[in-house]
Amino acid sequence: MENALYARHLETLLRRYRVALDEFKLDAIVIAAGTLSYYFKDDNSHPFKAFSFAQQWFPFDLPAGSYVVIKRDKPELIWPAKQDFWHMLNAIPEGEWQHHWLITPADSNAWTSSLPNKVAYLGPASLPEYTQHESLYTWLAFDRAIKTPYEIACLEEATRIATLGHHAAQQAFSQGASEFEVHLAYLAATQQDASETPYPNIVGINEHAAVLHYEQKSRQRPFRPLTLLVDAGASHHGYASDITRTTTLLNDDFAALVEGMDTLEQHIVSQAVTGTSFVELHYQTLAGVARLLNQHGICRLSVEEQLIKHIPQYFFPHGLGHLLGLQVHDVGGKQHSAKGDIVDSPKESPFLRLTRPLQENMVITIEPGLYFIPMLLDKMRAEQPQHGCDMEKIESLLPYGGIRIEDNIVIHTETPRNLTREAFSKLN
Ligand code: GLY
Ligand code: MN
Ligand code: MN
Repeated sequence: MENALYARHLETLLRRYRVALDEFKLDAIVIAAGTLSYYFKDDNSHPFKAFSFAQQWFPFDLPAGSYVVIKRDKPELIWPAKQDFWHMLNAIPEGEWQHHWLITPADSNAWTSSLPNKVAYLGPASLPEYTQHESLYTWLAFDRAIKTPYEIACLEEATRIATLGHHAAQQAFSQGASEFEVHLAYLAATQQDASETPYPNIVGINEHAAVLHYEQKSRQRPFRPLTLLVDAGASHHGYASDITRTTTLLNDDFAALVEGMDTLEQHIVSQAVTGTSFVELHYQTLAGVARLLNQHGICRLSVEEQLIKHIPQYFFPHGLGHLLGLQVHDVGGKQHSAKGDIVDSPKESPFLRLTRPLQENMVITIEPGLYFIPMLLDKMRAEQPQHGCDMEKIESLLPYGGIRIEDNIVIHTETPRNLTREAFSKLN
């Protein structure tokens, strides 16, 4: 099954690239995976991740030093084959995929001498005479938002793996584990090394759940565990999942707020269909957060009054979501044409990463949140003296940190496909 999907994926990519060859009057496009980079004045390298435009072509992780050459005939993979007794050579992966490629092992850059005349280059600079062709990059980034069935299958698998980790993380938390122990439980269940996760795991217990990109992992077991926020994914052939779950242990006001947020999240997901404006969905989420603040006695202002004063943004300061794919924040989210017209995020929601209308087979995240962030609460008091919020109630909620619920969604014309909820429901 995967072989057939991969073959069709390749056809789609070749079609897209051949349109680009015509558009830019080119004979070939060379895409570099990239080379190893090193810590400053050190002989240890950073973990390697291939440039996504090169990775997109292969059903395995592309190694450093490889190149993809797209021409009008059979595409070519230049495979790094430098002899070096310190390291094990990367073996060329076996499989059906090989039938579609000309595979050239190379121990130098000599292969570039047989390139045709009009060549454009994509990727980090690694060949002396080439630098990235920016308008070609922009052109190809636009198409990347629409995923092929193979890409959706990869994202589905990345999602399935991540849900195993979330399940294990929640179990560890309920047994009193520290953030570090929860993180290790996640890695073990997903069989990932920390350098293989698509982004550093966010594992926040209690107040740490209010730190949007919290990456420290305390080794101290919590004295009084209240909340666990885990934002963590997995990778499959380079494709990333990006999932957040917020877990509570008590049956209290905060747990009711988490439940309210879960209902809001699912309501927003249900509207993520072809033609919907994502900016509009973001506004609806802000209104939904205002409703939750009001219903849970956190802010007595009406939804309308809160929206005028931008109260929800003090509790939900980030965007509703983003495109998902080979990059966690996948390319082209604000790009409205292949030529590169950009529609920026609205002034009052500057962190929204997706302004493009939703289209069939886009894959996106939907990730509303509600946090008690001391810095933003101070800002609210300074900027909106008539904020209408019950500061005592907020004080009592500060130890819980906050809530984020994040699912990975495939856009369709009628009913969106929620990869994350599908995977969670298949656990056990
Ligand atoms: N994990 C990063 C994000 O949710 O966008
Ligand atoms: Mn996330
Ligand atoms: Mn995300």
